Amino acid sequence: MSFLERRNNQVKDRPCVVSAPGKLMLLGEHAVVYNRACLVTTVDQRMQVAAKRIEQQFLKLEAKDTGIYAYKKKITRLGKGRIPKGAVFVEFAVYNFFKNYEFYGGIEISTKATFSCRYGFGSSSAAAVCAIAALSELFKVNLSLREIFNLCYKGVVEIQGKASGFDVAAATFGGTLYFVTGGQTIEPIRVEKIPLVVGYTGFKADTATLVKLVAKKALKFPVVFDNIYNQIEKLVQIAREALLKRDWVTLGQLIDLNQGYLEALGVGSEKLARMIYAARTAGAYGAKLSGAGVGDCMIALVSDQKRKVVIKAITEAGGKVIDLKFGVEGVRIERK
Ligand code: MEV
Repeated sequence: MSFLERRNNQVKDRPCVVSAPGKLMLLGEHAVVYNRACLVTTVDQRMQVAAKRIEQQFLKLEAKDTGIYAYKKKITRLGKGRIPKGAVFVEFAVYNFFKNYEFYGGIEISTKATFSCRYGFGSSSAAAVCAIAALSELFKVNLSLREIFNLCYKGVVEIQGKASGFDVAAATFGGTLYFVTGGQTIEPIRVEKIPLVVGYTGFKADTATLVKLVAKKALKFPVVFDNIYNQIEKLVQIAREALLKRDWVTLGQLIDLNQGYLEALGVGSEKLARMIYAARTAGAYGAKLSGAGVGDCMIALVSDQKRKVVIKAITEAGGKVIDLKFGVEGVRIERK
C-alpha cells in the first residue's frame, strides 16, 4: 500500500473494541525465561481496549486502572523519554506497529480490565495484545495471531530485557498452551476443565525485579541454576502428558515438585508458603505459586470433593480466593 493510499484510508469515528484474556502460569515459570518450556492457561477475566484512528500523529492513552489519564505523545517520540509504568506496554506496542507499517495519523486508546491489575494475570501484556489487534483492524493490516504475538513480544523484550512472552502468547492465542521461550513452540493443549483453586496473597509481585533477582543469584551458582531449570523443564514435559490424560494425581505431584524448585530459586515467601501448605493439608492434589513469585497468586489442584475445604483453608491462611474459569478464548474483536 502506498503512502497516499495509507493517508487516504478513512479515519473512523467509532472506536473499535478488542478484548484479550488474562493468564495463569501452571508450571515452568522462571525456567521459561531461559529457553525452557512452561504450561500456561487463560482466565475468564479480560482486558478491553477501545481504539480509534485520529488525524494527528499522536498516541492518546487513557488507562484508569493503571493511573494513566490523558497521556499524549507524538508517534515519532514513542519508546523514547520517560514513560509512566502504566503506559509502557501499550506505548511499545503502538511504537512497534507504526515502526513496521509507517502509517499516517495516530491512535486514541482507552483500556479497561475486568480484573485487578494487582493479581498478576498479565493485564499489561493483554492490553498490548489488544492494542496491536485494534491497530491491525483499524489500519486494515490483517495481522495473523502469530504476527500479533511477534510484534507484542518484541515490545516486551525491549521493556523488560529478559522475558519469555508466555503471557503475550496466552492473551493472543487463548486456551491452555505448552509454550517455549519467545514462542519457539506454542502448542494448544486440549483440556476442557482444569480443577484449580486460585488464591491471591494480597500483594503484587514485580516480575522484572524478580527475574533480575533470580539472574543475580544464578551468577554465583550457574551450574546449579541451570540444572534446576532443566529439572523444571522435565517436569513440565511430564505435566503436559498428565494434563492431556487428566491425570490429576500425577499433575498434583509435579505441581508440588515445581514449588520445591521455585523455593530453591528464591522466589517463595512466607505468605505463599502458608497458603500452599494450607491447601495441601486440606487435601489438594498439589499446590504452588503461580507467576513471578513472592506475591500475586498461588494455585491448588483439587478434586470436586475437596474444593470447598481447600477454599476454606486458603482463606483461613489469609488468601483471597478468586473464582475463575480457565482455557478461555484469546484476543478477539468485540466491535469493528
Ligand atoms: C512471570 O509471570 C513469569 C516469569 O517466568 C517471567 C516470564 O516468563 O517472562 C517469571
